[in-house]
Order: sequence, then structure tokens, then C-alpha cells
Amino acid sequence: MSPAQRRALDLLLPRFGIPFAPVPIDFEREYGRRAPRVLEIGFGMGETTAAVALARPADDFLGVEVHAPGVGSLLKRVAELGLTNVRVIRHDVVEVVAAMIPPASLAGVHVFFPDPWPKKRHHKRRLLTPGFVHELALRLAAGGCLHVATDWEDYAQEILATLGAEPLLENLAPGFAPRPDYRPLTKFETRGLMLGHGVRDVVFRRR
Ligand SMILES: C[S@@+](CC[C@H](N)C(=O)[O-])C[C@H]1O[C@@H](n2cnc3c(N)ncnc32)[C@H](O)[C@@H]1O
Repeated sequence: MSPAQRRALDLLLPRFGIPFAPVPIDFEREYGRRAPRVLEIGFGMGETTAAVALARPADDFLGVEVHAPGVGSLLKRVAELGLTNVRVIRHDVVEVVAAMIPPASLAGVHVFFPDPWPKKRHHKRRLLTPGFVHELALRLAAGGCLHVATDWEDYAQEILATLGAEPLLENLAPGFAPRPDYRPLTKFETRGLMLGHGVRDVVFRRR
């Protein structure tokens, strides 16, 4: 972790962080207003989170990430950009969703470039299992969207099939979706494109 990330964690986590606790989040109290809320899962270094939150000031964003340097990096961006619509939880998102996110409380869920676990014997570690997708679908309000992007074609196909099999969700496109304009290109995407991987967006709506 860089000294700047460490400093950001120490100084800014108390201000913009929500500690993990098995208690539903009171979003209006946390953000000081009532606005559509988007959960971002595994934000990495937070470049995308900060860019999207800056471009969409009317929406509130909750980033969940386990990697401490990434959390420090996002907090630093939040402070530098003066963002008031971002909160961060440093914890395993599966536990956060189960314990802290009330049913039908989200307008969106973003999962950008989840760890692909490319080796077949590691596929079981992939985050977007049918069970977790169902839990996410339950947290979306009607009309809210689950948006996943990946540059791993076999994971993209698996995600499309998994979301397609979830009865609470419906696909907005015939298959993969065009990249929604709010999602900027990330370094993973640029790398993927350089490796010759296509990038797939999957956008499903809560019925
Ligand atoms: C491949 S990176 C992508 C980062 C970022 N979304 C981007 O597009 O640059 C995947 C991220 O998901 C995080 N992650 C993986 N499993 C997680 C979990 N169970 N809870 C929270 N974060 C997780 C990892 O720490 C990592 O930062």
C-alpha cells in the first residue's frame, strides 16, 4: 500500500466508510438524502467508481471491496473530487449483501471485471453464482438493473446464462448489451482489448 493510500484509509475511512455490521444500512442517514442507490462490487482502485459518481451526482454509490490499497485509492479520489455521493465498505461483498442490504433497496448493481478465475478447477471461486445472483436480484427494486462487464468470453457466456436463468431478472437486450454510456473504459478493458479479448456487457432488469 502506498503512503498516500494508507493516509487516505486512516483519515477518510471514518468519514466515508461504513463498518461491516450485521445490521441493514439506513441509506438516507448515511448519505443525508433520499436518492437512487447503486452498489458497486469489487471496485479495484476505484477509477470507475469515482468517474461514474462524478458524472451522476443525483445517484448515490456504495462501493464494496476487500483490497485495502484499492479502498485507500478510492477514498483519496473521493476526497480530491469532493464527492458526497460515495460510501465504501471494506469487506466481502457476499456477507455485505446478506447482512446489510435491505430487499428492493437498490436502483442498480455494477460488477465491472470480476475476477475471472480462468483455470477450470478455479471456476467455483467465481463470484456470480446462481445463488449470489438471486441475492442481488432480491436487493434490486423493480426496474433496477444488474450490470456486469467482463473481458473473459467464457465467463461472459456463463454470466449471460446465469442471469438468464434467474426468474426475477429479464434481459434488456437480445443477448449481450451495448456498453451503457455511463461505464467508462477501464484499464482492465484496455488490457483485454490489447490481448484481443472482446469486452461484454450484460444488463438485466429486475422484473
Ligand atoms: C479484476 S478486479 C476489477 C476491479 C475493477 N472493477 C475494475 O474494473 O478495474 C476484481 C476486484 O474484485 C474484488 N473482489 C473479489 N471478490 C470480492 C468479494 N467477495 N468482495 C469484495 N470485493 C471482491 C477484488 O479485490 C478486485 O479488486
